Amino acid sequence: MQPEATVGAALDDAVARLRASGSATARLDAELLVAHAIGVERTAVVAHPEVPLPPPAARRLVGFVGRRVRGEPVAYIRGVKEFHGLAFAVDARALIPRPETELLVDLGVARVAGALTGSPRPAGSARYRIVDVGTGCGAVAVALAAALRRRGFLADTDLLATDISADALALAVENAVGHGLAEAIRFARADLLPPDEPPFDLLLANLPYVPSGDLPRLPVAASFEPALALDGGPDGLALVRRLLALLPAALRPGGGALLEIGAGEAEPLRAALYETLPGWGLALYDDLAGIPRVAELTWPATDGSR
Ligand SMILES: C[S@@+](CC[C@H](N)C(=O)[O-])C[C@H]1O[C@@H](n2cnc3c(N)ncnc32)[C@H](O)[C@@H]1O
Repeated sequence: MQPEATVGAALDDAVARLRASGSATARLDAELLVAHAIGVERTAVVAHPEVPLPPPAARRLVGFVGRRVRGEPVAYIRGVKEFHGLAFAVDARALIPRPETELLVDLGVARVAGALTGSPRPAGSARYRIVDVGTGCGAVAVALAAALRRRGFLADTDLLATDISADALALAVENAVGHGLAEAIRFARADLLPPDEPPFDLLLANLPYVPSGDLPRLPVAASFEPALALDGGPDGLALVRRLLALLPAALRPGGGALLEIGAGEAEPLRAALYETLPGWGLALYDDLAGIPRVAELTWPATDGSR
């Protein structure tokens, strides 16, 4: 009878297979997949290579490694992705949230805190209205709501999340429920924004921004994600341009929009803003790689409403 393979041997084998398939993150991927097959944290796999790998876990691992070798993202295989310190359910219905999008959430939290801190809000005053456009798995809306709950601001906000994809919205609702925020976020299927919404104080959006011509050059893992979540049209800014035109009606005077953009899109966005919304303010915030990643658009300071 064959002795059971150990966790360490299975890990080495998985690393070798993933490396042979061209993965640049073979060890990390293998550790995550072995841990997922066993049902433990990755640290346990690293700490206890001598433990025997149960046969059912070994069989699951073969399947997981096969999927990864074919290019499927580890997050879809595990069904979970960490974002802004929270675990999000992810699958092919929506984009896997990216680490750089945490900047969008941080800036959103700072803007809400800035608006709601200080003088107490008069009883009966309107709640601070926020919309997350193109919510995908709900990463931005749910992470923002969770951060606002921790800081005691959630009760003073009204938070809407939209997506044109019914599949993505269903996943976003699951994530809101999973984090106990189902009551805190309204979800609406809409092409950018639903009609008949009163103006918002703050709009956040991580819309698709990959130029259509670049899609075939993305890593194979991206081919498992919905094209609807990636394709930003000829120059990547097609949806952002449409959104710009909606801002004067969508935002309360003095309100602002935080938009995630792709590398190299800051200057084209500036040109589009000056053309569509002359006089509006633009501030750019870099991600950890030093790339302008979030654009903040604000009403003209001269309109006397700020
Ligand atoms: C880049 S993904 C971002 C998802 C999520 N906000 C995140 O940061 O992980 C863009 C999302 O915008 C949605 N989307 C694409 N076109 C849209 C439109 N016209 N109106 C609303 N949402 C749209 C896609 O379905 C997708 O979920």
